[in-house]
Parts: sequence; structure tokens; C-alpha cells
Amino acid sequence: MNALHTAWEKLIEEESRRQKGRTDQDLWRPRLHIAPPAGWLNDPNGLCQYKGIYHAFYQLAYFQPEGGLKFWGHCTSRDLLHWEFQGVPLCPDQPFDCHGAYSGSALIEEDQMYLFYTGNVKLLGEHDYVNTGRESNTVMAVSSDGMRVDTKELLMTNGDYPDDLTRHVRDPKVWKQDGRYYMVLGARTREDEGTVLLFSSEDKKRWNYAHRFRMEKPFGYMWECPDLYVLDGHTVLSISPQGVEQDGLRFANKYQSGTCFLSGDFRVTKALGEFRELDGGFDFYAPQTFLADDGRRIQIGWMGMPDMEKVYRNRTVGRGWQNMLTIPRELSVRDGILCQNPVRELKEWWKEERRIKGAYSGPLEPCCELELTTEGGDVKVVLAGGLVLRYEKAEGIFWMEFTDPLLGGGRDIRGRQVGALRDLRILVDVSGVEVFLNGGQDVFSTRFYPEKDQYHAAIEGDGIEGVLRYREG
Ligand code: FRU
Repeated sequence: MNALHTAWEKLIEEESRRQKGRTDQDLWRPRLHIAPPAGWLNDPNGLCQYKGIYHAFYQLAYFQPEGGLKFWGHCTSRDLLHWEFQGVPLCPDQPFDCHGAYSGSALIEEDQMYLFYTGNVKLLGEHDYVNTGRESNTVMAVSSDGMRVDTKELLMTNGDYPDDLTRHVRDPKVWKQDGRYYMVLGARTREDEGTVLLFSSEDKKRWNYAHRFRMEKPFGYMWECPDLYVLDGHTVLSISPQGVEQDGLRFANKYQSGTCFLSGDFRVTKALGEFRELDGGFDFYAPQTFLADDGRRIQIGWMGMPDMEKVYRNRTVGRGWQNMLTIPRELSVRDGILCQNPVRELKEWWKEERRIKGAYSGPLEPCCELELTTEGGDVKVVLAGGLVLRYEKAEGIFWMEFTDPLLGGGRDIRGRQVGALRDLRILVDVSGVEVFLNGGQDVFSTRFYPEKDQYHAAIEGDGIEGVLRYREG
């Protein structure tokens, strides 16, 4: 560990002593979801299960709740629901990562944890930071206990990436398959086209460029946080594109996150199937998956959106923290559609339940879940008096709308064609809401900011019934 790392550790310790209790006491603190102890959080990083324990790292600007220099925060869990903060193991402390330890992934092998990430460097001078002035370094950090980083090694610099790219190349996702290592990296070409680069390696250190994935027609100028995995017999490429134009109800957020199926072997095939957004709500970006020991493919996303500070007011900033991750979601493919559902462990979390049959109006615990089935007609669920979740059968659209601007912190309305609506599951965790429709075929995620006495639900709809689950206090 170098002197700069030691200095960061000391500063972090001092800051956590200063913050202690402050953010924990905050009434908008989630109970189930990962949130930063202090400061700003964005992408999930390095998700894995190591020696039986789940590890989640995330982009953390510890000293700046409004965003700033990026470190990796770290937390662990035995059940994907109770998370314990474990510190800040990756700090910008090298010439190759001095402007941020950017996003990346974990690979577990022979009891070692390998963390691959992007070392971000911004050079001084007159630069646009797209074509000049930025270094995007691929770095490997090694940990022998999953808690502390022992070594960091620079693997690739911009000179190792194809010539037609800008300086924007980042977010390595690494995995092992058939005795070889593979890496995908998100990139922006000089023609302003988003793409994903595929590399392979025999030793995790020397990487060879194989080919790239792109759409038939350019789709946005930059693809961030790629992931590639096999799910129920389908090869899935997950990307977070920037610069995609809104198309009716689709692509309504500033940036998107979604998946494409790949036909054939990713080592050969470059052509991508249709892009489908993973979430129809206001707050979802940069998801990453990992394979749990029991074979489940689990995804966690950032329940937030970059570059929205002029529109969304995340009302916890003044309280010293901002943003959270989504609930861990189990992925599956049903009827050719990628489905996301809260991990099955969630069922064990709840202690109480109340049956609902027909219209319902009543108070809610700040952390609770509504699971409802319908007869396929119109449905309306109003949360906290100002977040309206509405299905309109005639048009087959599900809407998420804030009628109370303070509750939504500047968020307004999102909608998505969902066809028929058979069931919905609404997970409320104090200041976050995730809605899973039709067994997880469509999902809507958003932050919201109810006052203490505002937790309430009003439900209407033909033949609606189900259950409200919660745990007191
Ligand atoms: C996505 C992203 C990544 C980058 C990280 C920096 O939100 O821009 O591409 O590595 O955030 O925090």
C-alpha cells in the first residue's frame, strides 16, 4: 500500500467518524437496498460471491454527496438483503487511476479476488476530454481476502485499444469460459458510435482484441458498463447506451440500459438482436450481473440516473448522502423476454402479511411489498398520495406518474407498452419503489421522498386481490 492510499484511508476514517449516526438516522434511508454510508453512489461494481459471502462494490464519491472523485465502496451480505459496509478498498492512488477508480467487475479464482476496473486520468490543458486529454486505463487489482487490495497492475492503456476510438473506453467485465478469459469494454468511436469491444486472454494479464459488437444502425454515441452472459440458453449483451433519441414512450430517460440477444457464439457473432430497455421508470442505470454459487444469474443496477441534477432533486443531498442500488434481481428468460424478479430471499424478509381483496386504502410501513393479481382490467395504485401507478387496458400501457412534484423530486411521468396486465409486485423501501409487472417482464424503478406520515396506498381495479407484506418498525 502506498503513502497516498494510507492518506486516503485516514481521511475516510475521519470522515466516517464525523458522519457516524447522521446518515443512519435519516428517515429516507432504505432498509434493504444498498446506499452509501456518506457521499454519492453510482454504478454497482465487482459483484460476486466469494467463499460463500456476497460482495457488492459500488462507485462512491465519499466526500461529495453531489458527486466527485470516484472510489469503490464495499459491502457484504449472506442473504443479499442485509448488507454490511466494509470500507473503501479501491482508492485513486496511482498515476494510472488518479482521477477516479471507475467501474469494473470481479473474477474469483483459486480463492483470490481479481477486480478489473478503469483507471480514469484527466490531463491538464486545453482538451475536449473525448478525443484528447483523457486516459482510460484497464487495471487489475488483486485481493487475497476479499477485503483489502494487495496489488494493482496496469494492463492496458488507450494505445492498446483499436485506433478508431475516442479516449472513452471503460468498464471492464471479465469472466472465464472454456479455459480462457474474456473481457468486454464499453467504447465511443471517433464517429460518435457506441460499441462494445471483446478481448480474450490466457493469463488475465495480456489481452488480445477479438472484435466488437455494434448495432446495424448506430445507436447512441457511447455504450457504458457492458456485460455478457448466458441465460436460459440465450447469450445476452447488456449495455448502457448514451445519446439515444427518445422514440415515443421508449428511451425517455437521459440515458438507457437494456439488453440484446446474440445469435450464435459471442466469439464469432457480432450482430445484435433488438435492444430492449430493462426498466421503464425514472431511476435505473449501469446494471451488472454475477453468477451465484447456486447457478442464479443476479443483477443489481444503480437506482439513479447520471446528469439529471438539474431535473431530479434527490432530497437527501443536504443530509450527506445520495443514491442507492436496486434490489438484487434474479434474471430468467420467459417467452423470449428477459425477466427480472427480486431475489427469492426477499420472501423471508417479511414478518407480517395482510390479504387484500377488492379496493383497498390504508397506511403502509415504509418498507413493504404489495403483490397483486388482476382480472386484466384497468388498475390504479396510488402511493403516498402522489405517485400514481396506472394500467390502462384500452391502450395496454402502464404509467408511473408523480402528481406531487415534491414527492417525486422533479420526476414527472413514464409509460410503457406492456400488453395485458396479469400481476404486479410493488416493492417500497422508504425512498425507493420498484414495480415488477407480469412476472418481471417489465419493471419500473424510481426514487420518491414521502414525509413520515405520508406512507399510504390506495388500490382500485376489477377483481384485484393479493397480499401486503411488511415487517413492523
Ligand atoms: C456509468 C459511468 C461509467 C464509469 C462510472 C464513473 O454511470 O459513467 O461508465 O465507469 O460511471 O463513475
